[in-house]
Amino acid sequence: MALLELTVNGEETKVEAPDTALLLDVLRERLALTGAKRGCETSHCGCCTVRVDGMAVHSCVVLAARCEGKEITTVEGCGDGMELDRLQRLFLRYGAVQCGYCSPGMLMAAQALLDQNPTPTLDEVKKGLDGNLCRCTGYTAIFDAVLAYGRGE
Ligand code: FES
Ligand code: FES
Repeated sequence: MALLELTVNGEETKVEAPDTALLLDVLRERLALTGAKRGCETSHCGCCTVRVDGMAVHSCVVLAARCEGKEITTVEGCGDGMELDRLQRLFLRYGAVQCGYCSPGMLMAAQALLDQNPTPTLDEVKKGLDGNLCRCTGYTAIFDAVLAYGRGE
């Protein structure tokens, strides 16, 4: 076991976990942050996506120990705990959430894209989200929500 010092959603925390613990497991099972979802566990579906130092990563294939000293952001870090943030509100307004299983990962990937490219084109949005699968929406509503964010809605 190791004592990991992680910064998650702006808060420093110490957590005991095996040296080989994956970030997804530490978030969900040790820190009770269940927004990041468990899907394929092979870096294909994107539902486990969180941001590490602003970059979207699939937390099912990242060692938690590699994230010490970095800023980890999960969907629980969006908004202020009571209010949804602007991107979350746009996901709702554009119907980009159906079952919701992909949504935390989509939001993390989309925010990472928007932080780097505040006004993406449709092609750039598609490329930015190509690591995230959605079984429900057909993607169009998700792309529309991200484009709306870029337009300042
Ligand atoms: S659970 Fe991590 S990419 Fe699918
Ligand atoms: S809303 Fe159901 S998987 Fe995307």
